Amino acid sequence: MDKKTLIVANWKMNPVSKKEVSRLLDSVKNEINSLEKTEIVFAPPFVYLSKISLSIKKQFSLAAQDCFWENKGAYTGEISSAMLKDLGCQYVIVGHSERKKNFNETEEVVNRKIKAVLKNRLNPIVCIGEELRDSFDSQGRPINEMNLVVGDQIEKSLIGISEARLRDIVIAYEPVWAIGTGISCLSDDAMKAMLFIKKTISKLYSRSAAEKVRILYGGSVNSKNAAEYIKEAGFNGLLIGSASLNASEFVKIVKNVDE
Ligand code: PGA
Repeated sequence: MDKKTLIVANWKMNPVSKKEVSRLLDSVKNEINSLEKTEIVFAPPFVYLSKISLSIKKQFSLAAQDCFWENKGAYTGEISSAMLKDLGCQYVIVGHSERKKNFNETEEVVNRKIKAVLKNRLNPIVCIGEELRDSFDSQGRPINEMNLVVGDQIEKSLIGISEARLRDIVIAYEPVWAIGTGISCLSDDAMKAMLFIKKTISKLYSRSAAEKVRILYGGSVNSKNAAEYIKEAGFNGLLIGSASLNASEFVKIVKNVDE
C-alpha cells in the first residue's frame, strides 16, 4: 500500500465561532510541519470550509461531513458535492451513523451520495459499523451479528459502483457503540472487522480490489490507542471525533501514528 495513513478530524457541529476555529487550526498547524507518512484531513462544518481552505493551502486536506446527491437545483438547505469540489475539498464523509440516526439516512441514500461524490471526482469516506444490539441480545448474551450488518451496509451502499471507482472510496469502520462513548473497540476485534470488510469487497469485486481499498477505524480514538489501529491492526487511517477538537491531543495522535 503506497498511500499515506489518513487521519480525518471530524469536528461534527463544532466549534461555534470563527475565532475558535482559528485557534484550533493554528495550534495544530504550529505543531505539525511536514509529515512523511500521514495525510491530515480536516472535516469542519460547511460554514468554515471556505475559510479553512484558504488557510491550509496544500499542507492539509479538506473534507465535508455530508452532501446532497444532486449537483444543483431546488433543494432548500442542501449542499452539493460540486460546490464542495469548487471550495477545495478532496473528501466527503458519507453515511455517518449520526446522520443515519438523526436524519434517517438509509443505505440507498448513502449509495446516491457516494455516486454524486465520485462523479465530482472527490473521495467519499463511507462510514459503516454495527450497533451494540447487533453484538448482544437483550440479556447481554453475545450474538455477534457484526458480519451480517456490516456486510449488508457494504453491499447496499456500493450498488452500481465499478471496481475502477472503488479505488477512490475510503471505508471507515466505526462500531456505533464506540462513537463518542470513550469505549473504543479492541484493536484485535477491529482487525477482525477490517478483514471481514476486505472479504466482502473481494466477493463483490476482486481480491486485488480488496487489497487496495483503504479502511479507517473510528470510535473513541485517543492518543493512547491510536497507533495500535495502524501499527498492529493494519488500518490505513483513523476517523477521529472528540479528540480532534483538542489540539494537543490531536497533535499527539498524529505524531504517534506518523513516527
Ligand atoms: P469519536 O467520534 O472519536 O468522538 O468517538 C468518531 C466519529 O464519529 O467519527
